[in-house]
Amino acid sequence: MNKTTKSLLLGVISVKIVVILLVTSIPVNGNTLVPNDSELVKNTTTLINVSTEHKVDSVLALMTIDEKIGQLVQYSGKWNATGPSTSKRDQYKHDKLKKGEVGSMLNIASVASIRETQRIVMENSRLKIPLIFAYDVIHGYKTIFPIPLGESASWDLGIIEKSAAIAAKEAAASGLNWTFAPMIDVSRDARWGRIMEGSGEDTYLTTKIGVARINGFQGNDLSAAHTIAACAKHFVGYGFAEGGRDYNTVNIGEFELHNTILPPFKAASEVGVATFMNAFNDIDGIPATGHKYLQRDLLKKDWNWPGLMVSDWGSIGEMIAHGYARDLEHASEIAINAGSDMDMESYAYEASLKTLVEKGKVSTAILDDAVRRVLRLKFQLGLFDDPYKYCDEEREKADVYSKENLEIARDVAKKSIVLLKNDNQILPLSKKIKSIAVIGPLADDKDTPLGNWRARADYNSAVSLLEGVKHAVSKSTAIYYEKGIELTIPIVKPGENQFARPLEFNTTDSSGIEKAVELAKKVEVVLLAIGEDAYQTGEGRSQVDIGFKGLQLELLEAIQKVNKNIVIVLMNGRPMDLSRASEVAPTILECWHLGSESGNAIADVIFGDYNPSGKLPVSFPHHVGQEPLYYNQKNTGRPYGSTQVTYSSYRDAPRSALYPFGHGLSYTTFSYDNFKLSTTEINASEHIEVSVNVTNAGKRNGEEVVQLYIRDLVGSLVRPIKELKGFKKLMIKAGETKTVTFKINAETLQFYTANKKWEVEPGAFEVWVGGSSLAELKQSFSVVE
Ligand code: BGC
Repeated sequence: MNKTTKSLLLGVISVKIVVILLVTSIPVNGNTLVPNDSELVKNTTTLINVSTEHKVDSVLALMTIDEKIGQLVQYSGKWNATGPSTSKRDQYKHDKLKKGEVGSMLNIASVASIRETQRIVMENSRLKIPLIFAYDVIHGYKTIFPIPLGESASWDLGIIEKSAAIAAKEAAASGLNWTFAPMIDVSRDARWGRIMEGSGEDTYLTTKIGVARINGFQGNDLSAAHTIAACAKHFVGYGFAEGGRDYNTVNIGEFELHNTILPPFKAASEVGVATFMNAFNDIDGIPATGHKYLQRDLLKKDWNWPGLMVSDWGSIGEMIAHGYARDLEHASEIAINAGSDMDMESYAYEASLKTLVEKGKVSTAILDDAVRRVLRLKFQLGLFDDPYKYCDEEREKADVYSKENLEIARDVAKKSIVLLKNDNQILPLSKKIKSIAVIGPLADDKDTPLGNWRARADYNSAVSLLEGVKHAVSKSTAIYYEKGIELTIPIVKPGENQFARPLEFNTTDSSGIEKAVELAKKVEVVLLAIGEDAYQTGEGRSQVDIGFKGLQLELLEAIQKVNKNIVIVLMNGRPMDLSRASEVAPTILECWHLGSESGNAIADVIFGDYNPSGKLPVSFPHHVGQEPLYYNQKNTGRPYGSTQVTYSSYRDAPRSALYPFGHGLSYTTFSYDNFKLSTTEINASEHIEVSVNVTNAGKRNGEEVVQLYIRDLVGSLVRPIKELKGFKKLMIKAGETKTVTFKINAETLQFYTANKKWEVEPGAFEVWVGGSSLAELKQSFSVVE
């Protein structure tokens, strides 16, 4: 416990309480009078430290009801190093900080600003309980990594963990303690703007990646100087917003909820994620923020998770607009009883919890449980030992945006690129190529690659495609550039808030196309950078049209009339409708919004220094009307495949994806054979070894993501036609064959059955291995009683 807290406690609290505090928790002369720190209680999920629990209880025993409620309040403060401004709202927050009636602040960053804000609490409040500082560190802090959807395309859990660790290191060096990431909402609708923030459509992949990110942010010690608390969000269902419209209602059946949406959250709780965030949406009529079954009964009781649940921004108050709460007091009553511990920016708890406790509508036990969760995290972060422990300007200078971090960002970025098509093997280009035209509204854009939710990235700080190409080629290559068109009018201004306003697209000014066409005529290859502005995805950025906005297709078509060697360098945050572009361009390189090192990473792939290895974490449709589109659909009673019309498909578009889940090409080719199962019959406690030989049949070394899918043919509930159940990414040298093995066991085969239990149902199964969800090598096996 920090010295100031301790001495203040000694000064103001009755001797009796202080004695209890000392006896139960404070180390005396280096000895602890309570069970020592190594005595751990294994909570199915996280390790709870007995000593910490005593400290939490001791602090709780000192608190007034106002101080307790204060710990459940989180404010946003966008002020700088000098502290709150003179605005009325900031002054109000300032007063609350002084009284010790704020538990956490979000949106304050930099050591100087955080130190100043912490100082207000430490020098003025009675108990001197340090604040926790939170920020949306979603894909990097100042060194920006690919947007999460893009990074997920790497299927490389090691580098995903590393990028989260670097983000944590930079954030912690800037004074922060807590990120609101990862978003582990399974999301299957390309219209939904926040699809960019997750890991795509698949539950298994989202689970694995979510765990990697949590491990990266938190390391194995929250109190370490370079780690921060992670936040599994949004609990729950947010990714299933009807029609892909942000904040919209979610209608999902109980079984689908358990089988598809909850598993990443269960895994997050099991690896000890420190916090959860609930969600804006309602699920079948109950707002997630007020959902008692999900938060209190399932997460906190059944899963036995001891962490902190923060509301989403204003989501407690929004239960009034939902039509679920009469007023703020009612909203507070519902939220806290449901298990929503901390109120982010609803001003609901501070206004009404005291009255609710007095009226008996909220028990002291419920209030105390929420406060305990906040205090526990503060102890775990080491803030009671030193409230300024993350405030070190020297570290901030050394650790943020370092050369080493940028190198890692480049590595992650190149591994996130997906080669969607490469007809005629235009790629890779030789570095000695005579001439290249880099064309398009995003070709020399140094800002769009940073994507949305870019934390503290500097405006225009990414390496543009043009710059990356220039860095890569030999002196003998002539590089030309034409923008061709503007994508938006006007482009989001430096420093403008991501929520500022909708974008406007340029649909009229085509005056630059002619110059671009003239340029295209004289070069060997055109690199055409088109796609989406950084702010076309992210919160509140849903779209009904997921094609190319503005005049981008016009530019593409005009160029392809004069030069067929077009490589589309696609920069985007969602699966787009690429149907027309795919007809026109022989090569498409999916480059997402790749972050700070975007242009260098793309050049690494374009010139073959890196052989692309990314695979889509989400299906790309032929048409937006197919959305939500995902590979692991159910068969229906009238499965697709028949030529008769009365089958489940569309009359004017295919039902399948244009580019399916798991798809991604390489500069080499991989062939699969010798697919074997160790046995074709097991009971639920046994397992099957699956093996397959994968050969690099081309001339370049390359990495392949070997994927394993299963189907449970008959179940107490209808099961998907294919489900990803394993993957391995491995380097295979040219001409080399590697044997890849997987294990199929109860964990692979179980699901949340009609009995409302996770269990394996005996019966017949199919299993596939391959390089995408279209994997064709198939075997069968059965599970017997
Ligand atoms: C978002 C959250 C985010 C929070 C704080 C909300 O609008 O839904 O994901 O963490 O704001 O910025």
